[in-house]
Amino acid sequence: MLVAFRALDEEDCEHLDRMDVEMSAILQHDERILDPYGFHFFKARLSRGRSSYLNWFGVAAFDSGEDYGFAVSSIQSAPIKRITDKKRKRYARIKYVELFWINVMKENRRKGVGAALINRVCEEAKVVDSSCSEVRLHVLTTNEDAILFYNKIGFHTMSIKKNYPTKPYSCIRMRRSFDL
Ligand SMILES: CC(C)(COP(=O)(O)OP(=O)(O)OC[C@H]1O[C@@H](n2cnc3c(N)ncnc32)[C@H](O)[C@@H]1OP(=O)(O)O)[C@@H](O)C(=O)NCCC(=O)NCCS
Repeated sequence: MLVAFRALDEEDCEHLDRMDVEMSAILQHDERILDPYGFHFFKARLSRGRSSYLNWFGVAAFDSGEDYGFAVSSIQSAPIKRITDKKRKRYARIKYVELFWINVMKENRRKGVGAALINRVCEEAKVVDSSCSEVRLHVLTTNEDAILFYNKIGFHTMSIKKNYPTKPYSCIRMRRSFDL
């Protein structure tokens, strides 16, 4: 499926919030403990000015004026290896894009939109910071469909985080290099 992309901004926040509430209800089944992020989470990250300061960016995939899916991400960095230094500990760091949130409208799933959104997020990240070299994410161990999706498009497991984001849930930490 051929889709176009546009940048997300504060006008999209109400819609993202509604989708997030729906997604949380599905993922947590009967247990009301996994709160959705809430409107202000999206607003703080996608409002003009603040988003560039915080290195956040969001992407929508659309066709013929209709939105098919959304992704929200940020550029982050993490230490990868110790650099020998007599006086103090220093670490080489890797820059990566954290895929925070992705949701494709139900009626548009299994058409390649999710994979296209992630590819687009990687391209955008390279524009924001050319030293960015991979994409990372957390996925709930109970979200089997998403795990199958991420495995299919080249993600690998880095670790399992127990009681994350909150008890009794657990998440898989995954990564995919930009150079597949
Ligand atoms: C996970 C999600 C983003 C995938 O989006 P999508 O547009 O349907 O994914 P794609 O069409 O690009 O899928 C690419 C491949 O991944 C695999 N895949 C995707 N969804 C799958 C599913 N439900 N079951 C098994 N495999 C799946 C397939 O191999 C698929 O290729 P194919 O359709 O040719 O077989 C979408 O299902 C979604 O929005 N889910 C709800 C929100 C969510 O769970 N987000 C993740 C939170 S971490």
